[in-house]
Amino acid sequence: MCFNMPLWVYTLCVLLACTCLLLYLLERRERGKFRGLPTYPLLPFIGNIHQVVGDGRHLFQLLDRVGEICENSMLPFVVWLGPCSILVIQDPEDVKMITNAFIEKPYFYGFGKIWLGDGLVTAPGYVWKHNIKKLAGTFTSSVVDGYLGVFNAQTHRLVESLKTEVGKEPFDIIHKYLAYTTLETICQTALGVSKISESIVTTEYYEAFNRCLELIMSRALNVLLHPDAIYRLTAAYREMARCVAVLHHVSDTVMKKRQLERKNTKKTEIGENNSRDSKGGPKFKAFLDILMELSETDPSLTERQIKSEVDTIIVGGQETVASTMFYTLLMIGCKPRIQERLYAEMRSIFGGSRREVGKEDLARMQYCEAVINETLRLYPPVPGILRYADRDLPLKSFTVPKGTACGINSWGAGRSVRVWGPDAKLYRPERWLDDQPPGTPAAFLAFSYGRRACIGKKYAMAILKTMLAHCVRELEFVSEAENLQLKVDIALRPVSGHLIQVRLRQKT
Ligand code: HEM
Repeated sequence: MCFNMPLWVYTLCVLLACTCLLLYLLERRERGKFRGLPTYPLLPFIGNIHQVVGDGRHLFQLLDRVGEICENSMLPFVVWLGPCSILVIQDPEDVKMITNAFIEKPYFYGFGKIWLGDGLVTAPGYVWKHNIKKLAGTFTSSVVDGYLGVFNAQTHRLVESLKTEVGKEPFDIIHKYLAYTTLETICQTALGVSKISESIVTTEYYEAFNRCLELIMSRALNVLLHPDAIYRLTAAYREMARCVAVLHHVSDTVMKKRQLERKNTKKTEIGENNSRDSKGGPKFKAFLDILMELSETDPSLTERQIKSEVDTIIVGGQETVASTMFYTLLMIGCKPRIQERLYAEMRSIFGGSRREVGKEDLARMQYCEAVINETLRLYPPVPGILRYADRDLPLKSFTVPKGTACGINSWGAGRSVRVWGPDAKLYRPERWLDDQPPGTPAAFLAFSYGRRACIGKKYAMAILKTMLAHCVRELEFVSEAENLQLKVDIALRPVSGHLIQVRLRQKT
């Protein structure tokens, strides 16, 4: 039968067989580099794709299970997406090594480039290295203190909205309120506004923003859409481009307006125009203005780069702060003792007053800070971070081969019994009040670690404390977290959002 085969079919079969053999040998060589590490059973050529692919819920379950395996084996775990390896790490020593050694990120981050360009989160290593020098010190205490007026005004609005839910059924606090409040706040501080009462976030902007995040996530979950050449042919790409145009239009318009204002105003006057604090407090300076000032001495900070950095800040701060606020309310809502202690701290600082939160107040909110840290330890809004190994790197139990994507499991690290003790999975803010900080810094990964860690930590803590102070002073939260199910949806999100109820606080 074989002898009757036309020559071209025969040649094709031989070529195909040779290609398969070559691929198989290459694959064996690659996989051999990870011998001894735990992994899931592999299929030829596709590796673990069939086990990894799924929705955000599935991705979360995978993260959780892999975290347990790393904890028990004390080894990294390897996942194969066809020929590409992802090494999952959560041991604090390994995390330190990897986050300090590698600044490149794997190609997945490129999915956000159409929106965020070469902003800090998505920039290749050489661009990041150049820009971080200027931007690392942007959100200093005095800059953040200058934002307190915006934080207070936006939170005041939030509390008024939440009051309309008093006595009603549990509601979806993230989508109905927190996502909008944090987006408006971050937009105002990133772009600047002439009046706090003016909104930047129109319905069109809000919808485009959320849709972009959804589209990035659905692309990440579908490996077939990973190659740019394929993605560009899809309706999803065209929709993404439309949404990005809406978002860029806002940042472009604000930038042009500010450029014109800066041209028409002497430099010294610009600061005065931005001042919001008539009582001599720190002045408000929008992130955009800080960048425009920097660009005057550094021509490499082009208009395009400034826009990318501003858009990045908005994305970097919005989901993360909204999610942290949500999990904090969820936790205090089902732990009345913790909520009462938090309220007692607010009473000791503010008495019965509903005045604005000032910078001295923030410094006094120690229990509040412990509550936020405990939330971030157990519910890190970014449950995993990725780095790309651009060279071999020896860890204590294994050498990371060049070309590996390293996934740092912040979710698993925050729940490690080995690091946090036998009550690791318990929500216990008091652990942050002990003389010695708990765990090790490289196991608290909510803000990432090492190089390319979050530059907005001070900003985040200030806005979260302000929000909590206003919320807890006026409202009581009741929640149900026992059957909480989670998914990875850019940020760590609950599967069902209707978990929180509010009551008016009876003054004590
Ligand atoms: C609770 C709130 C926040 C959390 C949990 C958080 C978490 C993180 C994490 C995990 C990273 C590393 C991402 C990665 O490597 O893929 C990161 C980076 C970053 N975050 Fe945050 N973030 C928060 C708030 C903010 C805020 C409020 C801002 C801005 C005002 C911000 C701006 C940034 C920027 C610009 C980066 C990139 C840093 C770089 O690559 O050099 N973040 N953040």
